[in-house]
Amino acid sequence: MSLRPDFLWGGATAANQFEGAWDVDGKGASVSDMCTNGSHTNPKRVTTTIEPGTLYPSHEAIDFYHHYEGDIALFAEMGFKCFRLSINWTRIFPTGMEKEPNEKGLEFYDKVFDCCKKYGIEPLVTISHYELPYALVEKCNGWEGRECIEYFENYCKAIFERYKDKVKYWLTFNEINSGTMPMGNVLSTGTVKGYSGPIMDVPDSPQARYQALHHQFVASAKVVKYAHENYPQFKMGNMICFITSYPLTCNPDDMVYNQQSMREKNWYCSDVQVRGEYPAYAKRLWKDLGVEIKMEPGDLEILKEGTVDFYTFSYYMSNCVTLDPNAEKVEGNISMGMKNPYLKASDWGWQIDPKGLRYTLNEIYDRYRIPLMVVENGLGAYDKLEEDGSIHDSYRIDYLREHIEQMKEAVEDGVDLMGYTPWGCIDLVSASTGEMAKRYGFIYVEKYDDGTGSLNRRKKDSFEWYKKVIATNGEDLA
Ligand code: BG6
Repeated sequence: MSLRPDFLWGGATAANQFEGAWDVDGKGASVSDMCTNGSHTNPKRVTTTIEPGTLYPSHEAIDFYHHYEGDIALFAEMGFKCFRLSINWTRIFPTGMEKEPNEKGLEFYDKVFDCCKKYGIEPLVTISHYELPYALVEKCNGWEGRECIEYFENYCKAIFERYKDKVKYWLTFNEINSGTMPMGNVLSTGTVKGYSGPIMDVPDSPQARYQALHHQFVASAKVVKYAHENYPQFKMGNMICFITSYPLTCNPDDMVYNQQSMREKNWYCSDVQVRGEYPAYAKRLWKDLGVEIKMEPGDLEILKEGTVDFYTFSYYMSNCVTLDPNAEKVEGNISMGMKNPYLKASDWGWQIDPKGLRYTLNEIYDRYRIPLMVVENGLGAYDKLEEDGSIHDSYRIDYLREHIEQMKEAVEDGVDLMGYTPWGCIDLVSASTGEMAKRYGFIYVEKYDDGTGSLNRRKKDSFEWYKKVIATNGEDLA
């Protein structure tokens, strides 16, 4: 059960969750910069203006902006072959609408990529990871506005040309399928014009979300096509938040419901991005949701011409679905589901399911037959900083070990797996709650929920463990 010799071991981050420096060197506000802190029980809010005296966790985050050299050196010490990060759109185009890019923003990523190169680390760049310019929310309700396609193309052209010799692997939209769920309104589709309040209470319009998704599909396909034509060395990928679900019972009603749910939440977006066309079930889905997609001539052709080279996804948990209204509910990444009696859950209620990863890898590969990469996976947990500065996170090692074992099983099953970048390789701000206390990293950052902390970095036990895993190409998981 060997992984390929060039397996891309690494870690994953997103600019809005770790860079900080939210208004430095000409940067504009992204939709994430308008989100306050929150907690597991007290939801974070999105606001239309920056409220004085309110904590906005992305504003400082863990200040990677001023710590990137030391942080990348630590990644190199673990043996990273690959580092997934996003470019903060508003560092390059502060409102998204400028004609020319912000040179200071471009210089920052030059320095980051040069530093990666020094250590032989391959950057994997997410072009849009919950960092839509807030000015575009105000102008056109985010991606509901078709004009976003052109602004996105302009942004991509600038970064492709600037980093053509430094970056080979690109992902267009992080977890693009977030837009199929109401939780996607704020961070993903930006369909929150004029709304202030808890992020899960945004007035939801499936029409706006699905229209926004259509615009994202067209934008993604346009830039993939452009990259293929102009930068043949680039590899262009999609990125899906994979929410594996099982029917809670073998009642055929639950089976069919699960099939529909898997299509709506997981397959809808990647069927378009990998196969280059809307799936056969799309028409019925739109009808059931009361949605009518406005398309322009040429849209369907561009979807065909801009299909991705590889498929990437996040995988944290699984859940169950049923039509039984009395089944017990559980939390999860972006969506809620039903409790699976065979699984335990994290402190945030996400059900831990390593075998579900093998199942998922097989399902995706059978469907598309293009290389896959797990670009997010990990355990959000409370860590304890001991007096001597150590952090004993054996629970995280167990979680990762069990998932890597199942990845290897999937490879043995025949899946073509390119790499693995666990989420939040260095502690960062939680996307769903805005907390620091929900930690994923191999590296502990002394930063706390109230915004205080020295920002010192410390190695957790998992740091040395992961170093050994990478050094043995996944052979030694003990
Ligand atoms: C994914 C996102 O949904 O899950 C990340 O791409 C996010 O941005 C990660 O941080 C983990 O979720 P959370 O809510 O625990 O931060």
